[in-house]
Amino acid sequence: MNPSASPAFVIREKAVQPSIEMKGINYAFGEGESRKQVLFDNRLQVFPGEIVILTGPSGSGKTTLLTLIGALRSIQEGSMKVLGHDLGGMSARGLQEVRTNIGFIFQAHNLFESLTAFQTLALAMQLYPYSGKELKERPAAILTELGLKDRMHYKPEKLSGGQQQRVAIGRALVNHPKLILADEPTAALDKDTGRQVVQILQKRAKEEDCTIMIVTHDNRILDAADRILKMVDRYIVSDVVVSDSIVIGEFLRKSRVFKDVSPTVLAGAAKEMKLVTYSAGDFVIQQGERGDKFFLIRAGTVEILKDTKGQLRSVGTLGPGDFFGELALLRDEPRAATIKALEPLEVFILPKDKFDEVVHSSTSFGEQLKKEYFT
Ligand SMILES: Nc1ncnc2c1ncn2[C@@H]1O[C@H](COP(=O)(O)OP(=O)(O)O)[C@@H](O)[C@H]1O
Ligand SMILES: [Mg+2]
Repeated sequence: MNPSASPAFVIREKAVQPSIEMKGINYAFGEGESRKQVLFDNRLQVFPGEIVILTGPSGSGKTTLLTLIGALRSIQEGSMKVLGHDLGGMSARGLQEVRTNIGFIFQAHNLFESLTAFQTLALAMQLYPYSGKELKERPAAILTELGLKDRMHYKPEKLSGGQQQRVAIGRALVNHPKLILADEPTAALDKDTGRQVVQILQKRAKEEDCTIMIVTHDNRILDAADRILKMVDRYIVSDVVVSDSIVIGEFLRKSRVFKDVSPTVLAGAAKEMKLVTYSAGDFVIQQGERGDKFFLIRAGTVEILKDTKGQLRSVGTLGPGDFFGELALLRDEPRAATIKALEPLEVFILPKDKFDEVVHSSTSFGEQLKKEYFT
């Protein structure tokens, strides 16, 4: 990728075939009076080796979309190609064939109560011609990687929810699928285990050119993604390529203040921003202090607090993609509010001198800011 390319216009040039390619995907549940369309005109391409995170409010259609990609439902309208197979009009048998190349990690992990963790993985391997040695070694190796070495011969009833979830993940990985579809895979896991699982998935993606699509609300794992898709009200509304400067550029461009700034200037600003983390409860800025930084939230949320007559009042919250701190820089005034991290927070920070450079490098940007703040 050309590093000076505008973040807004990155063209993904790949000679390889996409692992997922859909166009005009619609889907409805029910018929007649009770028919309810839950997917509307979805389009997407995902390439081998990519980790894509799909977020969005509950009920927006994420799971339905994932089950269509996974050949678990028939396509109603639009075209869907997965791992080179056109799923449209495919027979149940054909869909089943496609599914054997996909690793599923779904919320209800459906482990057989009668099988140990080891047996669960070994059973998943039965469809394929493995050697006896592989049948013995592979489940053990994967369960060890997932931190279940000591639990290998336990049945689900003897495992915690998080451990059961890791068995389900192991089952999805054991046949080295080219595509892994995961629905909230880290929801039942604590922070460290969640990260560990994500690291294993990342390793798979990079080493085996495996495509991984994860539905999640867990913003602790957003940085594992190459791309973040957001679904709202039945379709994908944004598709962000995640390399820091690109994410920053995209975020900045979406805000009113920066929307007319040239992509080159934004890309320049993005490169100057540093990632800083805060813990829940930390104060990022304090009302009244001198402002010398501009902030853009990458992950987590903050609370805006205003001090009126000695009383701290919450006046709102900000989340990923939102920014703060520009007012004091523009007007050379003290901070107008206090900003407190509500959860572990990651922000990109741009120092004042760089911020000023951006402002002065573009007349249209200066004009825009004047319009926003001085009229
Ligand atoms: N089997 C089903 N029958 C009828 N409606 C369904 C079914 N599954 C999901 N829906 C509806 O489809 C919409 C999208 O659901 P879903 O894909 O599960 O969303 P998400 O995973 O984003 O929460 C919701 O309104 C949900 O109630
Ligand atoms: Mg869901």
